[in-house]
Amino acid sequence: MSSEFKSTSKIFQGQLGAYEVIVTEDESLTLKSGFFDEACHSLSGAKAETRHNYLKNGLFYSKSYKEKKPKLTVLEVGFGLGHGYLETSKALGDAIELHFISLELDPSLVSFAQELSSPVFHELKESAWGFDAQIGPHQLSLILGDARKTITTLKGFFPGLMVDAIYLDAFSPRRNPALWTSEFLSELWTLGQKGSVLTTYSASQSVRKTLDHVGFAVESFPGFGRKKQCTRAWWEGESLTEIIKMRMNSNIPLLND
Ligand SMILES: C[S@@+](CC[C@H](N)C(=O)[O-])C[C@H]1O[C@@H](n2cnc3c(N)ncnc32)[C@H](O)[C@@H]1O
Repeated sequence: MSSEFKSTSKIFQGQLGAYEVIVTEDESLTLKSGFFDEACHSLSGAKAETRHNYLKNGLFYSKSYKEKKPKLTVLEVGFGLGHGYLETSKALGDAIELHFISLELDPSLVSFAQELSSPVFHELKESAWGFDAQIGPHQLSLILGDARKTITTLKGFFPGLMVDAIYLDAFSPRRNPALWTSEFLSELWTLGQKGSVLTTYSASQSVRKTLDHVGFAVESFPGFGRKKQCTRAWWEGESLTEIIKMRMNSNIPLLND
């Protein structure tokens, strides 16, 4: 771990092991998971990174947002500290309805978010899928369990579900490989349509090749903090030429279960 991070020396004991609580450069918190041996965010700023990767370069690019649709639906892979929901809700304000669906493996992160991220998470009530909250015009549905399984239940819980944006915010492909495979990405593919957008902080060549393989048109956008690039994917169009070339390059492995 680099030297710039400020550990609060607080440890949060979750169901998936211990998390170190870290203050990032914009003063927002992140967690370093002992189980995955990785921090949830860039140490250059957890909230600022969330806005960069998933709002300014993600949701705001979606057709529905650009056309000022009155209701938006977002799917997040990895609830973590809840920054994805909080930043989205803040950016949209009360004029836009939001259904924010977030998939999370470690149920104890709900109590972390309630105590240390925001009191709005006290609105969460148990539901068939985990927890649900209606906060003004914004609904947060927190789906607990392994996302590889819960992803297949979403259309049962929310008939006709079609998302405007996906925030692919699992831990890295090296530490959390299950959520970057062609099988999992194919499930994400079924939840969007022309005009929807998926973004992720990862610029891994294998992730890009696998997104392209399952049907996404893949492009790059500038990274946050010290990161050079991130990845944006669409349900229509063609991938960047350099990514199409990777289709032929057998040295870059496709990610599979
Ligand atoms: C990088 S953090 C997400 C940060 C979060 N988006 C935020 O804004 O605070 C990744 C999250 O993915 C969760 N995760 C890892 N494997 C998972 C799985 N198989 N199913 C669901 N969630 C998983 C981790 O528990 C962790 O909370």
